[in-house]
Amino acid sequence: MSSGKPTILVTGGAGYIGSHTVLALLQAGYDVVVLDNLVYGHRDLLEKVLQIELVVGDTADRALLDQIFQTHDIAAVMHFSAYAYVGESVTDPAKYYRNNVLGTLTLLEAMLAASVKKFVFSSTCATYGVPEVVPIPENHPQNPINPYGATKLMVERILSDFDVAYSLKSVRFRYFNAAGADPNGLLGEDHNPETHLIPLVLLTALGKREYISIFGTDYPTPDGTCIRDYIHVSDLADAHVLGLEYLLKGSDSEVFNLGNGSGFSVREVIAAAEQVTGVTIPVQESDRRPGDPPSLIGSSEKARKILGWQPQYPSIKDIVFHAWQWHQQRHKDEC
Ligand code: UFG
Repeated sequence: MSSGKPTILVTGGAGYIGSHTVLALLQAGYDVVVLDNLVYGHRDLLEKVLQIELVVGDTADRALLDQIFQTHDIAAVMHFSAYAYVGESVTDPAKYYRNNVLGTLTLLEAMLAASVKKFVFSSTCATYGVPEVVPIPENHPQNPINPYGATKLMVERILSDFDVAYSLKSVRFRYFNAAGADPNGLLGEDHNPETHLIPLVLLTALGKREYISIFGTDYPTPDGTCIRDYIHVSDLADAHVLGLEYLLKGSDSEVFNLGNGSGFSVREVIAAAEQVTGVTIPVQESDRRPGDPPSLIGSSEKARKILGWQPQYPSIKDIVFHAWQWHQQRHKDEC
């Protein structure tokens, strides 16, 4: 049943940030088609929870893309599908360049062939590398220190060139640390393997892990642990709807940071999780994890000004609480 609003193709819509954005799009009245190869995505989130059309396949499959564009009247593409494990990108860069760069290039070429010229792209603060100033503004130099960040920067450059040559308009969002879960408990974070701090802390609180490792306690930060800018995934999702609408009304290409503009250390996140869960969380102090900058905090003033974006859940406690609701539910179902 058509809502009257345009149809949006969401690649990677069965993943963490993608699925939350699909939910936000549905709530805003858009029709959505999801393309996901299900390497890391979850079929059940889309088919059972969100009940929308899922095409299982890859962004590198040009014939499949052509078929999707021929059979749906797609107004814009939101592109979430990418591999995003920084460590793995160092040990297996080919996997990252092939999927994140070639897959995206194939998708963009299929869009051009179908005259679809609006694109919302998931980029990352990892394109900045080690910051020279904090909070990081969008015009900060981009010198990624790992292949994952390099793949995202390459796509950003492709998008700039495609705008000049083919008038393909894009919004590029550079995320800081996506965290939390849908406040109503419909969706959440479910990576396999899980490497992110907040889910690992909560899995420890649930007794699924013995302890949480603190990677480095000798950073030049007030408590010696790394500081990150955690941004609620539903706030990210809302920003995507605003970015889409910005493009649909005919605006020019833009790039926006998405963060809260404030940082929390690893120890502060663990303390927040102890308050939210009521559980004392065992920690083990370990060596630094290679490639971790001491502090990453973004300035999102531009998104606030131009898109009118206003994060609803800037508090670390809300972020952890929503993640906790989700993890409790997810693991109760497993037992
Ligand atoms: N951390 C721990 N123990 C853990 C896991 C993480 O101490 O068991 C620390 C990390 O060292 C880091 C902080 O918690 O200081 C956050 O780590 P995450 O793995 O949750 O997130 P990252 O900051 O490493 O990664 C995020 C995104 C990436 C993106 C990157 C940019 O998940 O996609 O930011 O730096 F590339």
